[in-house]
Amino acid sequence: MRSTSRIRNRSVSLMAAQSTEAVASHPSLLFHVAVSDHARGAIAATSLATPSPDHGLIRGGGPWPEESKEQAVAWEDGVITYVGPADGLHGVEPEWFEGCTIAPGFVDCHTHLPFAGWRADEFEARLSGVSYRELHGGGAGSSGSEREGVRARPPKEGGIYRSARMLAAASDDEVLAFCRSLVQEMAEHGTTALELKTGYGLSVEAELRQARLARRLSKEAPQTCSVTLLACHAVPEGMDRADWVRIVCDELIPAAARERLVDAVDVYVEDIAFSVDDLAEVARCASDAGLPLRCHADQLGASGAAEAAVALAARSADHLNHVSATGIAALGDAPATVAVLLPTSTLFLGASPPDVRALLDAGAAVAIATDFNPGTSPVLSMPEAIATACSLYGLRPLEALAAATVNASVVLGLAPERGTLSPGRPADLVVLDGDAFRLVPYRPGHNPVVRTFVDGERVGGR
Ligand code: NIG
Ligand code: FE
Repeated sequence: MRSTSRIRNRSVSLMAAQSTEAVASHPSLLFHVAVSDHARGAIAATSLATPSPDHGLIRGGGPWPEESKEQAVAWEDGVITYVGPADGLHGVEPEWFEGCTIAPGFVDCHTHLPFAGWRADEFEARLSGVSYRELHGGGAGSSGSEREGVRARPPKEGGIYRSARMLAAASDDEVLAFCRSLVQEMAEHGTTALELKTGYGLSVEAELRQARLARRLSKEAPQTCSVTLLACHAVPEGMDRADWVRIVCDELIPAAARERLVDAVDVYVEDIAFSVDDLAEVARCASDAGLPLRCHADQLGASGAAEAAVALAARSADHLNHVSATGIAALGDAPATVAVLLPTSTLFLGASPPDVRALLDAGAAVAIATDFNPGTSPVLSMPEAIATACSLYGLRPLEALAAATVNASVVLGLAPERGTLSPGRPADLVVLDGDAFRLVPYRPGHNPVVRTFVDGERVGGR
């Protein structure tokens, strides 16, 4: 057996030797990127866990990622050249991470960045009994279970409408400055690819502005980003739902597609938002524009949105707290629709978890994401989302790893390149403290990320 101490003792950090730390001093330029020559590197660790690179989307029956001991990864020009036993790596000295685990970088396939400001007072109000629906201005609704109380319908002061007002009040520079540090914090937590989303615009011009800001942020971010037009998130004040859906189809989606601002279209199907029929209408327009569909489905109550998303061949049905038995069966048979689990929003809202074991047993492909937003999930850490998925939803650690990497990459249209470790693929990877992946869900609240690499460049870690 190879002597790990020998390797460790003569280990000169390749990345350290080849890298110059570039930390911008200007306070608004917060991205921390260590530039290495031609993004070349080699690392080795006690353990390596990755989904199979040959399998693609992993459904309920697996195969789940495997974990091997004493493994190395090497890359040139940002592309992986070697994954295998550390003692099989020749001609290069790997940087050795004793007691650590190498894994593919996390893909956060559902976030609501860019936004501009927090809503911590709403969080506090919810803890005193006000429901998410009420804060949104939608009343208690009929089928939700999130600490509901039946009250008179208040004006649309909080929730999505409030985030829309905060976004409108902020300048482009202010929005980008706010988001930049958050995106860097995501890199520190191992996120190597992520979704950016609109939905806080609530008018054609404001949605297009948010999409342009998302594109600007994605150009600056160290990670790979995919932009989604959440065209139907809340009905703009003073407008009929049907009128907004028509404007979305006739004006917003064509304009966003013409300017190449977005990579997918999303609809929030809920009794306080849009209907399954609206989803079908938007799906037609998205398809005409060549854009894949996604859907916020069955979050606060059951609406049949998951079944509809599958029937419309959506890339994903997200949330699923109240998914019905038919919805579970539909996702189990779905050729293309991934069940995106957002466990930190479930925890944060005090909602009931979906029956994730039933989804897996039905054959569904599941992904995990943070749902990072100021209302239902102010959590940007994928390790935290993974830990919550395991403890609250009963996912096993290596199921959660597949859900947070390769399956999430499929949702963003980034597969097969991103989400697994394999020669020929981009070197998007993390080094995690702990000698097995199970340490990630075992220690909620702890950031296990020691290094984050995107295309072979070090973008985060300690
Ligand atoms: O995914 N529920 C719909 N949209 C978001 C929350 C948006 C907000 O409250 O700002 C979600 O949970
Ligand atoms: Fe969401």
